[in-house]
Amino acid sequence: MNDLSKYNNKLIYKKNKLFLEDVSLNTITKKFDTPIFCYSSTQISNKFNLFRSSFKKIKPLICYAMKANFNSHIIKILAKLGSGVDVVSKGELEKCLINGVEANKVVFSGVGKTEKEIEFALKKKIKQINVESLEELEEIEEICKRLVTKINICLRVNPDVNANTHEKITTGRLEDKFGIPNDKIQRIFEKYNGNKFIKITGLSIHIGSQIESLDPFKNAFTKIRKQILDLKKKGFKILTLDLGGGIGIKYNKDSKIIDIKMYAKLIEKLFSDLGAEVILEPGRYIVGTSGIILTRVIRVKKGTNKNFLIVDAGMNNLLRPALYGAIHNICPVKLKDDKKRISYDVVGPICESSDIFIKDIKLPEVLKDDLIAICSTGAYSSCMASDYNLRPKASEIFVKKNKFIISNN
Ligand code: LLP
Repeated sequence: MNDLSKYNNKLIYKKNKLFLEDVSLNTITKKFDTPIFCYSSTQISNKFNLFRSSFKKIKPLICYAMKANFNSHIIKILAKLGSGVDVVSKGELEKCLINGVEANKVVFSGVGKTEKEIEFALKKKIKQINVESLEELEEIEEICKRLVTKINICLRVNPDVNANTHEKITTGRLEDKFGIPNDKIQRIFEKYNGNKFIKITGLSIHIGSQIESLDPFKNAFTKIRKQILDLKKKGFKILTLDLGGGIGIKYNKDSKIIDIKMYAKLIEKLFSDLGAEVILEPGRYIVGTSGIILTRVIRVKKGTNKNFLIVDAGMNNLLRPALYGAIHNICPVKLKDDKKRISYDVVGPICESSDIFIKDIKLPEVLKDDLIAICSTGAYSSCMASDYNLRPKASEIFVKKNKFIISNN
């Protein structure tokens, strides 16, 4: 329990107290109320650099999927490191540009872009739009005609592959709403060949999220490689290849992790000979393990067969356990030397039975007002929060070495 390095190597016990980088988490609560999101800025940069440096033969354009966490501090850190961004709304597009991301490093994904959003993206001259249907492409063409402009397009392929992840975050099967079936792709290339407003530069793919093995990637990437070779045979140029995101992270002792170097090797093996620019859209991998929720025990409630730790964070702060049955590791902020362990259900204050973070976790005895940390909440946590039960949104703190700042937008 004491070694948290597999979750976040900046989350460390020093003399029984939990630190994020060089800041004791207890000191944060002297200045700010709980629940509060705390992130390690160094961990975010390190993960980005590790991802980038795993590629040896190609230099992919990394477009951070900012839906994972759109806090402006994160966007600024990544923009300074040269990252591009994958956006899915006008809001995200505006925000990444304000925070220093270059427009020619922005790709626009999503199954339901509105005409207004498309128009805005065209005016901002972003790198490309990833298109999810012929209907969407026809609308983009009309808007380009009206604005007398041209746009680069990648067609998002639906490869009909099961990502073997949670049902609600798998996106690459034919019954999912995403992408264009493989057998319809060539027809669209033919239709738009030489078009004055639309330049189809390549293909994109994204089969799901929190993927814990290389096999689904291998299946999907092999299908897309075949598609590219077929298109090339027909004389179409493939200049860009957007391989999406999806790499899983460590949430609990049972999570399996993909070796990022093997992921990079797979991509290089399958695509480095094609001469296309590779784009990648990692979200969770870059920010997921960097964050924790620091929460205080409101009270310890003894049930008939259970001890409930009622904490001040709830499903309004972290929806993932309620929505996907996700299990985030939980650890005390202060360790006790005492070897005694008690089994707890850690639950939030919200009036829903699904407001449970973890069941039957064995912890040293926890008392009212103690602090605990919910790990791996850097991705899809603060950005999915709500004010359900009229609870205020939790603040967000960024630690770097022995300093921390607040950034709530
Ligand atoms: N690209 C596209 C087109 C996407 O739809 C997504 C995520 C990503 C990239 C980034 O995927 P990542 O590398 O983060 O796995 N709320 C869910 C996750 C939803 C993912 C949506 N799309 C969760 O909490 O697990």
